[in-house]
Amino acid sequence: MSNTLITIDGPSGVGKTTIGKRLASELNFEFFSSGLLYRVIALHMEKTNSLNLNEFEIISNDPVVCKVNENVYKEKNLYTPEINTKSSEIAQLSEVRIIVSNVLQFMFKNSNIGLVVEGRDMGSVVFKNAHLKIYLDASEAVRSERRIAQSDNKESVEDLRARDSRDINRKISPLVIADDAIVINNENKSIDEVIKIIKENLKLQ
Ligand code: DC
Repeated sequence: MSNTLITIDGPSGVGKTTIGKRLASELNFEFFSSGLLYRVIALHMEKTNSLNLNEFEIISNDPVVCKVNENVYKEKNLYTPEINTKSSEIAQLSEVRIIVSNVLQFMFKNSNIGLVVEGRDMGSVVFKNAHLKIYLDASEAVRSERRIAQSDNKESVEDLRARDSRDINRKISPLVIADDAIVINNENKSIDEVIKIIKENLKLQ
């Protein structure tokens, strides 16, 4: 049997990374944020003006470092307002989504511990057979407040709204709730409360 896989999907700023990292650390699992790969591709396009992604490699997981055709991209350079927007734009392209999906599946196949992976289509498209699928939700106002509170990724309500709209309305792999996902609205819940709900659901699997 394969290692345990937990997917967390949901809109921007809902807390997928915060919850996912904490959960992974408590379970001794690995954590990966799939949005990072879209961010790497966005930066690569900006730098090279091309969509040539022939050699795409994750060199390190924490912090993430990727190599794309000899160009090296580091996690610390991926959270800018420009990359927020650009990553959501290039995420509409099917060739980009196929590459990201393949890279993630390869990573999971080759890891020897459990994985918590977060994104927009982790449970609905990329890892349909995940052991547990979580969909986190909260109102736009609360998500925007949380984003603004993050010192490294200030995003206005307008920018957040535009990005959500693109992620929800795109033709390929839009943000949807997978049929078998557990939906948690974390608007009035602490991180500990959300983690507890996820762990209880993991026991039931
Ligand atoms: O999670 P994030 O903010 O780092 O993601 C950046 C963008 O990447 C997001 O606006 C849409 C895209 N994305 C996606 O389309 N599918 C995913 N599974 C993860 C991210």
